[in-house]
Amino acid sequence: MDLFRTKSIEQSLKDTDEPEYQLKKSLTALDLTVFGVGVIVGAGIFTLTGRAANQVAGPAVVISFVVAAICCGLAALCYAEFAAAVPVSGSAYTFSYASMGEFIAWIIGWDLILELFLAAAVVAQGWSAYVGVLLGHMGITLPANYTYGGAVDVPAMLLVLVLGVLVLVGIKESMRVETVLVAVKVAIVLFVIVAGIGFINTANYHPYIPPSVPIEGTAGFWKQPLIQWAFGFQPTAFGVGGIFAGAALVFFAYIGFDVVATAAEETKNPQRDLPRGILGSLVICTLLYCAVSVVVTGMVRYDQLKPSAALAEAFSYHGKTWMATLIATGAVVGLTTVVLTMMTGCVRLLFAMSRDNLLPMGLAKVHPKYRTPWVITAIITVVVALMAGFTPVGNLEEMVNIGTLSAFVLVSIGIPIMRRTHPDLHRPFRVPFSPVVPILSAIICSYLMLNLAIETWARFVIWLAIGLVVYFAYGYRKSRVRTGKQLPHELEVALTENH
Ligand code: ALA
Repeated sequence: MDLFRTKSIEQSLKDTDEPEYQLKKSLTALDLTVFGVGVIVGAGIFTLTGRAANQVAGPAVVISFVVAAICCGLAALCYAEFAAAVPVSGSAYTFSYASMGEFIAWIIGWDLILELFLAAAVVAQGWSAYVGVLLGHMGITLPANYTYGGAVDVPAMLLVLVLGVLVLVGIKESMRVETVLVAVKVAIVLFVIVAGIGFINTANYHPYIPPSVPIEGTAGFWKQPLIQWAFGFQPTAFGVGGIFAGAALVFFAYIGFDVVATAAEETKNPQRDLPRGILGSLVICTLLYCAVSVVVTGMVRYDQLKPSAALAEAFSYHGKTWMATLIATGAVVGLTTVVLTMMTGCVRLLFAMSRDNLLPMGLAKVHPKYRTPWVITAIITVVVALMAGFTPVGNLEEMVNIGTLSAFVLVSIGIPIMRRTHPDLHRPFRVPFSPVVPILSAIICSYLMLNLAIETWARFVIWLAIGLVVYFAYGYRKSRVRTGKQLPHELEVALTENH
């Protein structure tokens, strides 16, 4: 079977070389860092910090953030090597197609679809949590059943629908608007840190690692980390195990640095600036996250922290309503861009996959007026809206994480493979100490995966199984690399417009 046919790197690069289709190369390392921070800082820090501290890790959630950062840092090095060597749009899917072959590329693409559309839904839910706080401060209470945590999260659905329309009419993330929004978001996070320090009560840090607590009943089975079950441990929360389960959860907060790689083609000097943008945004976010979690768990005892809009609620707890209102406003503004970027990323990815005919090319049909892939956009919008609206809170984050982590594992393993199969490829950025660092990255990512709940694994296996069926029923036979089928002209044009 020919599962590992590759789209040649030369071909991928050539596709982007046609002057007629060339994108404007204007982004600098600073722009990429801003873009990165814009995608990364989102529901993870604004909502998951509270949940992870409250339900699995206690004040030691700070250590969870550090563990997740180490994992992401290693994976980011691998991403940086790939992205700098193969600077074509489309992220890990595209560069794995060029290096590791179609089957792995398909799996990575399928994992990334999971990452992107579910992340959009999760962040929309987090957005809705903060909208609830904000409206509450204005004296407006939405019916509990139709808002965050209710049977249907109507605000989250509305947000997704509005953003879907914006994507459809071809809104571009303008760097200037993006910079302003990112500045607002970072200012709010800094505000939490600076304003919160005064409210820290060090007694809240005891116990720093709360003793482990058994999780009872059938829920205990499904909710326990796979690794506990595999080693025959009793299902528990907190304790040292809780730190790693917490890391596997707050990993979500770092997701997005990989999306920086999608802007490769628009970067002035990708070889130098992509690694800087990817690693730079990750370092900034790590510092912010550790500081926020130290402050918030110091402000409110972990068992009283709100698992939803934790950052604003920590200030309400101390009677500082105006501060809570300010934070909620910043979160509402800041989280909007994350949802938008995740949705756009998902559209780009599906577009790339249908262009390669691993998914039906017809999906990539372009709207005659807006010149955007309207079929894909419409499907994603509806699916994300349904997921955000109807999935009970707290069910999707781990799915996003397992999808992303599995893509990271494959990308990491890809580095030493690529070094062997393409020794002469120009690599402006090289992961230090390969193959040690890439292998370490794969091991740590896998370890975090093992710390995700059994139910997450079960769902993930189902998702992968569907992916394999789709691939063998369609992509394997129809792939453009296999059939040599030409792209319809309108797709070629749209492709260049929709990067
Ligand atoms: N890292 C992004 C967030 O926290 C996905 O919302």
